[in-house]
Amino acid sequence: MAPLSAPPSTQRITWKGLLLTASLLNFWNPPTTAQVTIEAQPPKLSEGKDVLLHVHNLPQNLTGYIWYKGQMTDLYHYITSYVVDNQIIISGPAYTGRETVYSNASLLIQNVTREDAGSYNLHIRRRGDETTGVTGHFTVTLYLETPKPSISSSNLNPREAMEVVKLTCDPETPDASYLWWMNGQNLPVTPRLQLSKTNRTLFLYGVTKYISGPYECEIRNPVSASRSDPVTLNLLHGLDAPTISFSYTYYHTGEVPKLSCLTDSHPLAEHSWLIDGKFHQSAQVSFIPKITKTYRGVYVCFIHNSATGGTNLIIKSMIVPGKWIPGALAICVPVKSI
Ligand SMILES: *[C@@H]1O[C@H](CO)[C@@H](O)[C@H](O)[C@H]1NC(C)=O
Ligand SMILES: *[C@@H]1O[C@H](CO)[C@@H](O)[C@H](O)[C@H]1NC(C)=O
Ligand SMILES: *[C@@H]1O[C@H](CO)[C@@H](O)[C@H](O)[C@H]1NC(C)=O
Ligand SMILES: *[C@@H]1O[C@H](CO)[C@@H](O)[C@H](O)[C@H]1NC(C)=O
Repeated sequence: MAPLSAPPSTQRITWKGLLLTASLLNFWNPPTTAQVTIEAQPPKLSEGKDVLLHVHNLPQNLTGYIWYKGQMTDLYHYITSYVVDNQIIISGPAYTGRETVYSNASLLIQNVTREDAGSYNLHIRRRGDETTGVTGHFTVTLYLETPKPSISSSNLNPREAMEVVKLTCDPETPDASYLWWMNGQNLPVTPRLQLSKTNRTLFLYGVTKYISGPYECEIRNPVSASRSDPVTLNLLHGLDAPTISFSYTYYHTGEVPKLSCLTDSHPLAEHSWLIDGKFHQSAQVSFIPKITKTYRGVYVCFIHNSATGGTNLIIKSMIVPGKWIPGALAICVPVKSI
């Protein structure tokens, strides 16, 4: 049985009728002198549009053509074929109802979807070659305009240097490459940043403030490129030992010094104070009682970062009148919990 030939009386041939010929396709020889070219028109295509895969330099004396979706030329990837003698079209399992093959072998795909992107294979057969098989095997890749990507994160609020964060550039797009930027630049070379094999996923092994972003990703194919909006990780960090600062260095009796407890923490730490033995649930700033001539004070500032679970404290003391000596009377003790 010759592939692609059909009894002239039979106009309704289904792909099932081609099961026998499908096994023959696997043994057909590759082309030796392929000058056929296939061109997508328009080359830049968005979803919902139509595209024509133009076949140029088609040889003479052909008996038929078969279009396949993808690199595989088996029955399951068979879209449609054209038999020259009978001028009939035979559709296969990969036919979606939107493909039309013309007598000149060109393939029209209407209302393209994202799934239509990818490669297409055309097999052509020449008369007299029925026993040796296809004389041509040509591949064309259909590119869709890349969608605007977005970055999804496994964790937008990582704790500093502790957690692995996975950033993914969505959506997955066939025949596209992925590129990443941080602070508008190429990714810095650091063992903390690793890309997946396809470059679609970026792993951050322990986020520090130097690699918290903003990140952007780009999806690129030969006809278009689009970049995501930037994404910055909300780094939870702290707590280093706080410092207590006094409003002035010198105090006189009767004055009410102001104390500030300063720490680098995100989100802002909660502060509480122990001033002269009394506990104060308060803000970053606290006031100590009026200074008297014989005043001695001990101040402890506790800090707690509820997001990271970190705690810390600092103890300072002051002797009046006169001068608070920075450092001299202060100790800072990191603690596990208050
Ligand atoms: C093939 O035929 C179609 C439909 O008639 C036409 O639009 C297209 O331009 C033709 N392509 C070539 C390469 O001749
Ligand atoms: C086409 O085939 C016919 C008959 O097999 C042959 O006479 C003719 O020369 C062929 N033409 C070309 C261009 O190969
Ligand atoms: C194109 O396809 C979409 C979804 O696949 C469908 O909703 C729409 O009606 C189609 N448009 C045309 C003109 O066929
Ligand atoms: C991934 O990106 C690197 C450069 O960052 C590039 O050399 C490599 O070819 C890319 N891999 C893929 C599969 O696109």
